Amino acid sequence: MNEAGYNYRVVRGFAFSALFWLVIGLVVGLWMAVEMFYPALNLTPWLSFGRLRVVHTNGLGLGFALAAIFAASYYILQRLNRIALPFPRLAQAHLYLFNTAIALAALSLFAGMNTTKEYAELEWPLDIGVVIMWVMFAINVFGTLIKRKEQQMYISLWYIIAMTVAIAILYIVNNLEVPINLFKSYSIYAGANDANVEWWYGHNIVGFIFTVPILAMFYYFLPKATGLPIYSHRLSIVSFWALNFAYLWTGAHHLMLTPLPEWIQTVAMAFSIFLIAPSWGSVVNGYYTLQGNWDQMRSNYLVKFFIAGITFYGLQTIQGPLQGLRTLNAFFHYTDWVVGHVHMGTMGWVTMVVAGSFYYMIPHISNRELYSIKLANIQFWLTLFGQVIWTVAMWIAGIQQGAMWKATNPDGSLMYNFLDTVSSLYPFYKLRFAAGLIFFIGILIFVWNLVMTVRKHPRTAEA
Ligand code: HEM
Ligand code: HEM
Repeated sequence: MNEAGYNYRVVRGFAFSALFWLVIGLVVGLWMAVEMFYPALNLTPWLSFGRLRVVHTNGLGLGFALAAIFAASYYILQRLNRIALPFPRLAQAHLYLFNTAIALAALSLFAGMNTTKEYAELEWPLDIGVVIMWVMFAINVFGTLIKRKEQQMYISLWYIIAMTVAIAILYIVNNLEVPINLFKSYSIYAGANDANVEWWYGHNIVGFIFTVPILAMFYYFLPKATGLPIYSHRLSIVSFWALNFAYLWTGAHHLMLTPLPEWIQTVAMAFSIFLIAPSWGSVVNGYYTLQGNWDQMRSNYLVKFFIAGITFYGLQTIQGPLQGLRTLNAFFHYTDWVVGHVHMGTMGWVTMVVAGSFYYMIPHISNRELYSIKLANIQFWLTLFGQVIWTVAMWIAGIQQGAMWKATNPDGSLMYNFLDTVSSLYPFYKLRFAAGLIFFIGILIFVWNLVMTVRKHPRTAEA
C-alpha cells in the first residue's frame, strides 16, 4: 500500500500478465513466420498456420494489449481522479478471470474451435466470460469517475470511457450467435449483412484496442515522462470527439469491391480520409509538447519511446486512409502490404507506447529505480530496427505480390500461377523472421529489465 491508498497490486498483476502474453504471442508469431517459408513446420494440426494465426492475434490483441490497457487504466484512473479503486476485490477478480479467459481462449483456438469471424473467433461460452469480465472492469471505471476528487477530467479519462463503452457495444452486437452445442455456434447475421457487421466490429475493435486506449496512455505518460504539460488540451478534446465520430463509419473499407452496397464502401472511404485530421491532431499535440525541449530525446530515455510511437501512429494513419481508397485497395487487398501496415501499428505504435508507459509506471508503483536504463536503450533500438525491417520487407513483398497476381500475358491469361507468387516471396519471409527475432530479443530485454526492477530493494521502507 502507498501513502494515497491507491491499489497498485492489480496494476502490477495486469502489467506482468501483459508481459507474459506478449512473450507467448511473439513465440507463436515467430513460429508462423517460419512456416511461411518452411511449411514442414506445420507439424500437427495444433501447430498449423491457420490455428497459430488466431492464437497469435488473440494472444497479442486480447492477451498482451488488453492486459497492458487494463494495467494502465487502473493506474491512470486512480491518479487522475485522485481516488483509490472503489472495488479493489472486483478488480482482483477481474485479473484472475482475465488470465483464465485468455488461457482458455488460447487452448480452444489451438484445438481448432473457431467461429471463423476475425478478431471474434472465440466460441460463445468464452464470449460470455469476456462480457462478464468487461462489466467488472466498467464498474471500477465508472465508480472512480463518479466518486472522483478532481473536478476536471483530463483527456486520458475520456479515451478510457470511449474504449469501455465502445468495446461493450461492438463485442455484444457482433457476437450475437445461435449455439448448437457447447463448442459451436452460428452468427445470427447472414451473407453481406454478416460481413458488414463483422467489419464494423473488426475495424473498431482494432481502433478501440490499438488506438483509443493507447492514446490515453500517450496523453498521460508523455507529460509525466517529460515534466512538460500537453501542448493543447483543447486540441486533444477536439481530436477525441472527431476520432470517435469518424471511426464508427469506416469499417466497410475492409470490404472494398465486395457485394456490399457501393454507397456503404464510399462512405467508409470518405470517413477514412477524414480520420487523418483527428489522428494528426494527436500527433501534432505530441510533437508540440516537446517544443523547445527536443534535447530530451537524447537525455531522457523514456521520451524516445513515446515520440517513436506517435511517429509510427502518424505514418499509420496516412497509410491506412490511402489503402482504403477503392483503386489502391484493389491492388493492396489480400497482399502482405496490409500485414506490413498492421505490424507498423502493433510493433511500432502500440508496443513502443506500452514500453514507455511501463518503464515509467512499474518503477513508480514498486517504489524502485529502473534496473537498467542502458538495457532500456538497447531494447529501444532493437525493437525499432526489428519493426522497421519487418514492415518494410512486407511492404515490398506486398507490392511484388499484387503486381504478380495482376500480371497478364498478351492473350489475357495470367502470367503467374499462385504458387509462383508464394515461392517468390520466400526471401522476404526469411527477412521478416530475422527482423522478428531482433524485435523479440528486444522484448526479452524489456521483460528482464522490469522483472529485475521489481526484484530490487525498494527506495524506502514503504513500498
Ligand atoms: C486513420 C487510421 C487508419 C485507417 C483509415 C486504416 C485503414 C485500414 C484499411 C483500409 C485496412 C484494410 C486493408 C485491406 O485489407 O485491404 C486496414 C487494416 C488494418 N489496420 Fe488500419 N488503418 C488505420 C490505422 C490503423 C492503426 C493505428 C492500427 C493499429 C495497429 C491499424 C491496424 C490495422 C489492422 C490490425 C488491420 C488488419 C485487419 C485485418 O485483419 O484484415 N490501423 N487498415
Ligand atoms: C516478432 C514479432 C512478430 C512476428 C514474427 C509476427 C508474425 C505474424 C505473422 C506471420 C502473421 C500472419 C501474416 C499473414 O497472415 O500472412 C501475423 C499477423 C498478425 N499479427 Fe503479428 N507478428 C509479430 C508481432 C505482432 C505484435 C506485437 C502484434 C500485436 C500487438 C501482432 C498482431 C498481429 C495481427 C493483428 C495480425 C493479423 C494481421 C492481418 O489480419 O492482416 N503481431 N503476425
